[in-house]
Amino acid sequence: MATTAPERSHDAPPATPFERIGGHAGLKAIVERFYDLMDSDPAYAPLRAMHAPDLAPMRHSLASFLAGWSGGPRAWWDANPGKCMMSAHSGFAIDRAVADQWAEAMRRAITDAAPADREIADAMGDVLVRMAKGMARG
Ligand code: HEM
Repeated sequence: MATTAPERSHDAPPATPFERIGGHAGLKAIVERFYDLMDSDPAYAPLRAMHAPDLAPMRHSLASFLAGWSGGPRAWWDANPGKCMMSAHSGFAIDRAVADQWAEAMRRAITDAAPADREIADAMGDVLVRMAKGMARG
């Protein structure tokens, strides 16, 4: 009995946010811009001061975290089993001002990196901003 192959568009799994944002290259463009802004704009000096002098490990960690978080390769998660990002920040003195700096720098980084799929970029930005603001105490 002949079978009809389903249309490819029905068969293929939907693209993950990781794929839509441009994979590792897309995330790297955002993360590099984020830490360049944090490192150079005096508006983010308090946020910058909380971080180690060398931002290279953070550039790697955040990009790797975001890859797994958005449905891509889970290297960061495999290296940090059970680690909760919100709890991991509970030891830092994050007030509303510094959380706003993180959120603003991330929004600017997304705009400047100019991902082709702006819809998914903005959706990811919205959630990251909520996470950052949720980390503020006081
Ligand atoms: C609310 C504002 C935030 C502040 C002030 C902040 C601050 C920090 C600081 C001081 C560190 C350690 C840096 C170092 O050792 O040089 C860190 C680590 C990190 N943060 Fe944040 N952070 C914020 C929000 C976020 C958000 C929203 C995310 C994720 C979406 C995030 C992801 C990370 C990652 C992945 C690490 C490295 C941890 C690891 O890989 O073990 N941060 N953060």
